[in-house]
Amino acid sequence: MESIERDLIAAFRQSFGREPRLFRAPGRINLIGEHVDYNDGFVMPAALDLSIWTAIAPRPDRRLRLRSLIMDDIVEFDLDDSAAQSRGDWSDYIRGVAIFLERAGYRLCGADLAFDGNLPIGAGLSASAAFEVSAGFALLTICGAKVDRVELARICQRAENQFVGVRCGIMDQYISCCAIAGSALLLDCRSLTARKVAIDPKARLVLCDTMVRHQLASDEYNLRREDCERAVAALSTRIAGIAALRDVTFDQLMRYADSMPELVFRRARHVVGEIDRTLRAAAALDAGDLEECGRLMNLSHDSLREDYQVSCGELDLMVDIARDIPGVYGARMMGGGFGGCTINLVDGARAEAFAHTMAERYRSATNVTPPILTCVPGPGAGPADLIGAAHVAAR
Ligand code: GLA
Repeated sequence: MESIERDLIAAFRQSFGREPRLFRAPGRINLIGEHVDYNDGFVMPAALDLSIWTAIAPRPDRRLRLRSLIMDDIVEFDLDDSAAQSRGDWSDYIRGVAIFLERAGYRLCGADLAFDGNLPIGAGLSASAAFEVSAGFALLTICGAKVDRVELARICQRAENQFVGVRCGIMDQYISCCAIAGSALLLDCRSLTARKVAIDPKARLVLCDTMVRHQLASDEYNLRREDCERAVAALSTRIAGIAALRDVTFDQLMRYADSMPELVFRRARHVVGEIDRTLRAAAALDAGDLEECGRLMNLSHDSLREDYQVSCGELDLMVDIARDIPGVYGARMMGGGFGGCTINLVDGARAEAFAHTMAERYRSATNVTPPILTCVPGPGAGPADLIGAAHVAAR
């Protein structure tokens, strides 16, 4: 048992005076396919082996008592409080999931819950989805419900969209629920079907954290989503039967560029190009062509910086440093943007030297020492004690 699990159990006993069960849900990386999930596109995420844990024990009533060790806070509410308003804090993620599980037809029981994690918050590694999924898995299991992983992902996304107020896509919740250890997944965000994509064992996926935590990211995120909707509305007057930017080809977009404002066109150009790059990156990895995958990752970053405008100075700096280091196939910002991490596809034999050089150069430019982590794709959410077994069964 990891020490974080032991500490969480001890904290649970101290707060609630009884024995909990433990559940865990991972954060994620994404090789390529950024800001395309809410356009019905393709993404290529994998689970991190960093997680949020939920300790839980049922109560005979309908109250949920939540203790977060991460936020050092306790919040209580009643599942029957129909006038539930979001509070604007961490507890909204849990309350939202509970509300939307009940709206989906599950009858939950009251519970005491405690949370902890080793996933940095605000680093673009999807701690919020991990928080939602870990709590959702726990709440369903203790009331005796069978967990349908894809449905749980959808319900958690709905909670974040409608209760927390971030109009995120499905990628983070899906991969936290459905990840497969040892692989990335190529996920079709329209059909929610996925296939494994193997990464050549001679390459490493290395995360570098800028340590920038951007406060305005969720407002900007919702604005980008609106821009995409405006592009679809404009293109719908020219092309029949399109429901999302997924349905638009690059040629069509260029032909009808004048149907929308320049900025909206640039947002759409990122999305249409990124969906194509993601499919081509999957084909490149299938063929063992790491150079091509890296080249597409580089193009992804440039498009996110120039057209989608979700990068920031520190992310650009980190990407520039990476591209100068020998053994790097590709480097790009990852996740929603405006801070957080870059993901780097690096030759395994040179990964250590890469981390060393990156840390030194980023520190000398910014005075900040960047955390650097080599990722090993882990399994999706489950009971913490059975997580290995759950993964084997899911395959
Ligand atoms: C955040 C969202 C995801 C996705 C990424 C960008 O992580 O939660 O749904 O849109 O940003 O690719």
